[in-house]
Amino acid sequence: MGGGLSRHELAAAVSEAGGLGTIAVNGAAAIGRELAAARALTGRPLAVNLLLPFARRDWFEAAAEADVVVTFWGRPRRRTRGVWLHQCGSVGEARQALAAGADGVIVQGVEAGGHVRGRTPALQLLEQARAALPAQFPVLSAGGVAAAADVRAALEAGASAAVAGTRFLLSEESRAHPAYKERLLSAEATILTDLFGAGWPAPHRVVPNAATDRWLPSSPRRSSFLGYSPTKDERQLARAPRANRVLNRALAPGARYAPPALQLRMALAQRPGSRLLGPAGPSDEGPPTLVEAGALYAGETVARVDEVRPAAALVADLTP
Ligand SMILES: Cc1cc2nc3c(=O)[nH]c(=O)nc-3n(C[C@H](O)[C@H](O)[C@H](O)COP(=O)(O)O)c2cc1C
Repeated sequence: MGGGLSRHELAAAVSEAGGLGTIAVNGAAAIGRELAAARALTGRPLAVNLLLPFARRDWFEAAAEADVVVTFWGRPRRRTRGVWLHQCGSVGEARQALAAGADGVIVQGVEAGGHVRGRTPALQLLEQARAALPAQFPVLSAGGVAAAADVRAALEAGASAAVAGTRFLLSEESRAHPAYKERLLSAEATILTDLFGAGWPAPHRVVPNAATDRWLPSSPRRSSFLGYSPTKDERQLARAPRANRVLNRALAPGARYAPPALQLRMALAQRPGSRLLGPAGPSDEGPPTLVEAGALYAGETVARVDEVRPAAALVADLTP
C-alpha cells in the first residue's frame, strides 16, 4: 500500500508472522531506510512495491535489496535481477508479464482497494489466469480477501497465495491517519472512480468523503447493512466531471518529475472543492485535511471489517 501507508512496521510484522510483508514508499533513500528498519525487526523475507509509471532507476536499485520486488501499473518489464512479481488486471497483462520474465503474477480483482487495474471479480480472473498460464507459474490472487474463508477460496481456485491490502490498512502497524482508519471502520460502501486522478488518471476504489460528495453526488451509499453484497453501481466507474478529467490528464506527463516538496505543497492545498485532486492518501504524517479532501482508498471488504488489529493477529486470522 503506497504513499507510505505500508512501511517497515507493517511489513516486518506481516513477514514475522509468516506472510510476505511489503514496503511501499517513494524515493530510493526512503526505500533503503524502510528496508533497513524492517530488516532490524525480522529475518524473514520482505517485498518492496514499485509503481512502474513513477519509479526511477535508483528506486529499483534500492528495492533490489528486498527479497521480492512487486511492480504495478503499466507494461510489465523486468527491471530487477531478483524475484519479480507483477500485479495485473487481466489475463492479457498476466501473459505479458510471463513473456517479460516475471517469476509470478498477482491478479487483482475489481473489488480491490487502491488503484484498480481490471474490471473482473478476483476469483473469476484467477480462474481465467490459471487456465491460460503454465501450471507451474505462480499466480497470486488479490481483492476481496479479509478472512480465512477468502484465502481458502483463492487457494482452492488455484492461487499460489492470497494478497490482502484493505484488511492490513486496518492494522495497528499501518501508517494510515487515525481519522482515515475511523472512516473505514464505519464505511458501508465503496466507489470505483477516477476522481483523485491529478497526475495519475487511473481508476481507484475509495470510501466516500466530502470530496466524493462534492464531485460524485450520485455515487453509491448504503445506510443499512445486513450481510455484505456490493451493489452493481460499486463496480461501475463513477467518473469525475469532464473538466476535472481534462486537468488530470494534462498534468499526468509532468507528475513523474514533480519534486516531493511540490507534491507535498499540492497535498496541503487540496480541499474537497478543488478540481485538482491528487492521489495522496492520508497517512499519519500527511495533512489531516486529506481525510475529507483526499482519496480514502479501501476495497469492498471494508464493509466487513470492524476492528483495528495487530498485523500478526491478522495473519493468524487469515490462515485457513
Ligand atoms: C490503501 C491502499 C493502497 C494501495 N497502494 C498500492 C500500491 O501502491 N501499489 C500496488 O501495487 N497496489 C496497491 N494497492 C492494491 C493492493 O496491491 C491490492 O491489489 C489490494 O489491496 C487487494 O485488494 P483488497 O484491498 O481488497 O485487499 C493498494 C491498496 C490499498 C487498499
